[in-house]
Amino acid sequence: MMKPKVIVNVAMSADGKLALPDRTEVKISGEEDFKRVHELRNRVDAILVGIGTVLADDPKLTVKERFVEEPDHPLKVVLDSNGRTPEDAQLFDKGESLIITTEHIDKEGWIRCGEDGRVDLSILMKELSKRGVEELLVEGGGEVISSFFKEGLVDEFKVYVGSLVIGGKDAPTPVDGEGADDIDGLINLKLVDYELMDDGILLNYEVDDG
Ligand SMILES: NC(=O)c1ccc[n+]([C@@H]2O[C@H](COP(=O)([O-])OP(=O)(O)OC[C@H]3O[C@@H](n4cnc5c(N)ncnc54)[C@H](OP(=O)(O)O)[C@@H]3O)[C@@H](O)[C@H]2O)c1
Repeated sequence: MMKPKVIVNVAMSADGKLALPDRTEVKISGEEDFKRVHELRNRVDAILVGIGTVLADDPKLTVKERFVEEPDHPLKVVLDSNGRTPEDAQLFDKGESLIITTEHIDKEGWIRCGEDGRVDLSILMKELSKRGVEELLVEGGGEVISSFFKEGLVDEFKVYVGSLVIGGKDAPTPVDGEGADDIDGLINLKLVDYELMDDGILLNYEVDDG
């Protein structure tokens, strides 16, 4: 069974941060980029975020009709190993959602991928393929994106660089986690194109695994 194609999309400040040091969301891009993201959401089969993003931003993860007429709302997927997703999270308001957890959490309707620790992404990929997901959009945050890179699952990396500086060594970045142990752990990218958008720039990379 083929794994879903994984596209990572993030917006970061010019100094490489995703949000304030206390994880409060920041508006990094503008209307043109929002439209691009909503069109991308509409194209894929599923959108995925980590529980850190759900707790920080309470995202809806829907496609806004302001940007896409008659949207096909993709499946929303949250990685939540310890059952912390609030029952009133906005992502439950509209469309289908899947909370992915581990064997030690038993909640009706939740999917368990992995015995302990964190959600096992290779099991998750099989589960999503089984459900017909061919394209998966990973929107964050930095810890989840780091795991997808570390496991060699990322095909495309789209980074919008906004014209602002957030600063602070504790502010989340697009790829947090532990980072590379040595130069063999670096992930090489191929810049395939770029586009000026709003007052920033969108960089489109493919992961160079050759
Ligand atoms: N600018 C942007 O484009 C953008 C987009 C999204 C988010 N953000 C920002 O990013 C911040 C949140 O990022 P974050 O790094 O704190 O959280 P995150 O990546 O959204 O979620 C991380 C959590 O996901 C859970 N998880 C389950 N399985 C995992 C796995 N295999 N690998 C990694 N994590 C797994 C872990 O919690 P458990 O162990 O409890 O499961 C982990 O702590 C917020 O400030 C948000 O505003 C910005």
